[in-house]
Amino acid sequence: MLWRYLWPLLLLVVAVNCNSNSNSNHTNNYEESTLRILDVATQRMRSIWEMRKRIFLQLTSKGKSPLGGQAPSKQEVEMETYRLVYELAANLSVVPVEQLRDPKLRRRVQRLAKLQLQGLRPENYEQSKDLLRAMQNFISGSLVCTHEDCSTRRPMAMYPQLYNQNMRTKRYEDLKFNWFTWRSTINDKDTARSTFIDYVRLLRMAATYNGHVTPSRTWYLHYDTENFQAEMEAVIWEIMPLYRELHAYLRHSAMLAYPKANFKDDGAISAPVLDQMLSQAWYPHQIFPSPYPKDQLPSVHHRLEEVLVTPVKINKKAAEFFESLGLNHMSDGFYERYSRRMNDDEGGPDCKSQVYYFPPEVALRYCPKLDYKKMMQIHGTMAELQYNIYKKELPFGLDTEPCPGFGSALGETVVLASGTARHLERLHILINDSLTEGQSLNRLLRMGVHTLLAIPQYFINDKFLVDVMDGRIGVSEYNCAYWGLQDKFAGVQPPIWRTEKDFDLDYRFYRGLHPDTSNTRKFMAEILGFQFYRSFCLASGQYKPGNSSYPLHNCDFHGSTEAGNLMREMMQLGATRHWRDIMEIATGERKLSGRGVLEYFAPLFTWLKERNMQLEIEPGWDADDLCRKD
Ligand SMILES: *[C@@H]1O[C@H](CO)[C@@H](O)[C@H](O)[C@H]1NC(C)=O
Ligand SMILES: *[C@@H]1O[C@H](CO)[C@@H](O)[C@H](O)[C@H]1NC(C)=O
Ligand SMILES: *[C@@H]1O[C@H](CO)[C@@H](O)[C@H](O)[C@H]1NC(C)=O
Ligand SMILES: *[C@@H]1O[C@H](CO)[C@@H](O)[C@H](O)[C@H]1NC(C)=O
Repeated sequence: MLWRYLWPLLLLVVAVNCNSNSNSNHTNNYEESTLRILDVATQRMRSIWEMRKRIFLQLTSKGKSPLGGQAPSKQEVEMETYRLVYELAANLSVVPVEQLRDPKLRRRVQRLAKLQLQGLRPENYEQSKDLLRAMQNFISGSLVCTHEDCSTRRPMAMYPQLYNQNMRTKRYEDLKFNWFTWRSTINDKDTARSTFIDYVRLLRMAATYNGHVTPSRTWYLHYDTENFQAEMEAVIWEIMPLYRELHAYLRHSAMLAYPKANFKDDGAISAPVLDQMLSQAWYPHQIFPSPYPKDQLPSVHHRLEEVLVTPVKINKKAAEFFESLGLNHMSDGFYERYSRRMNDDEGGPDCKSQVYYFPPEVALRYCPKLDYKKMMQIHGTMAELQYNIYKKELPFGLDTEPCPGFGSALGETVVLASGTARHLERLHILINDSLTEGQSLNRLLRMGVHTLLAIPQYFINDKFLVDVMDGRIGVSEYNCAYWGLQDKFAGVQPPIWRTEKDFDLDYRFYRGLHPDTSNTRKFMAEILGFQFYRSFCLASGQYKPGNSSYPLHNCDFHGSTEAGNLMREMMQLGATRHWRDIMEIATGERKLSGRGVLEYFAPLFTWLKERNMQLEIEPGWDADDLCRKD
């Protein structure tokens, strides 16, 4: 593994020797030569930013190229970035980090000297991208024939077609059939499993280049923690009492919704039903009943259109949220030059707005849809934009979030605040700044399905990957080990008997195999997001524990410079410090904790306990084992 480090070592030694006289001060020399390496790399990074800028301008100028010439392709930018970080890591890997006095410089070197997939040699790196593409195709490729005769109907993709079908259906048979068919299609001839195995081999290889004996050290690289999985697992157990009550309530609902399926009132939830419920969090005809069916949530759609009128106006409202906290003001110049609308056909099924980073500028391409969900999402995008504006002041290498998911967690706080009745009243979309108690519980249940059902799934998917990577789960036991995790952490079981010939991981698992969209990151964003939300709400006085007029779930910290100062201080630090040091600024805590989640959902927890008691349902599960080896 040292091969790739040898040549830069020689160069560095030469450089150091040339600069030294007989009373050489090595520390100075190391710092100088390190800075020289970083300066050259920064120059190259600037030219990559320039490429990105040209792409942004070209994409949004309807074919005209404002800077002249053809803009580079995304692939070219990606390759240039890979070459840069790969060479740089090799050049920096020989710097004796402990000899550097400047802590910022030391940190820059530490962060840039170790890589994940980008640390692979070019041919292996290409292979990793091919494998990721193949697995992405499991999700979005038109592969699945749900009718015997595929000649009359085009095959469907898992997402969005099957996903939408599963969301809408009222027949358990359909759910089960789709669940089974997608899995048997992608794992035909063992394809899904062997693609995954090949990919894991590359993740392990990337870890050896970092000198990590335990491969997950590289997967969790920037969490920079001895046993990060244990910290996540502790959070899962912390919120488990709440999860079990929700699980019991939903299991009972499933029993009533699908009487013919013969679900039991003390077992696990069938996997396709859990998926359906997750997809129905905001769907009006969901299979789980609302706590107070008569207390419909007020409809905001109509007023939203009246008040916010255009996507640009929504963007400006979202930007104004951050201005009210004392963060950056987005100028008219920004809206004119660096904020562009996506074409209607561009957004795809999710239509997510995108932030571009090419310092000294940052830019936005926004989804032009106008609805409640987009309104909330754009607040998260604006948070990312703000973050970029602050961290672009930092030297290359530290101008990122301190760990994956940290930025999304900050965004999550504003997404949560922007969806409260208190905020909607401020925008003149609702006339009352609080919901009735019944409406609040209805909303919390939907939030709970959306959030609480997903968190253990992020954890299970991440744990499965990491345990396979580290060799704690062997190749002959993948599938049953997976169902073991589903049983232990989520109370979920397969709808039919399974064996080791099957490979039942769900589509979220494949999505999370890319380090940039990992399940670790999603887990972090949710849990830390609620921790930050709690802190900002306390700082702003919008959450007063024990005062029912100021519950956490209706907290809008709009206008609070106290919250804004905390957010700005964290954003300005970029990756200059460990994420624990930075989270401590707002939360006073140095560990992930389920406290934010538990306090947010406290009224739902109380309601669920009472309701389950009335229904005489025992929370918890005693699942049948439905996976065997042969
Ligand atoms: C090297 O220089 C730094 C500051 O210029 C000083 O603190 C350090 O003691 C010097 N080391 C040696 C070995 O002279
Ligand atoms: C790495 O070092 C080599 C040799 O000095 C140099 O040519 C190359 O530009 C450096 N690359 C980076 C990204 O630092
Ligand atoms: C707002 O809601 C609260 C709680 O449901 C209620 O007491 C109050 O009368 C409502 N105010 C208006 C103006 O509707
Ligand atoms: C809740 O807070 C408000 C505003 O500070 C205060 O007027 C009210 O008395 C508090 N209610 C309780 C029950 O503490």
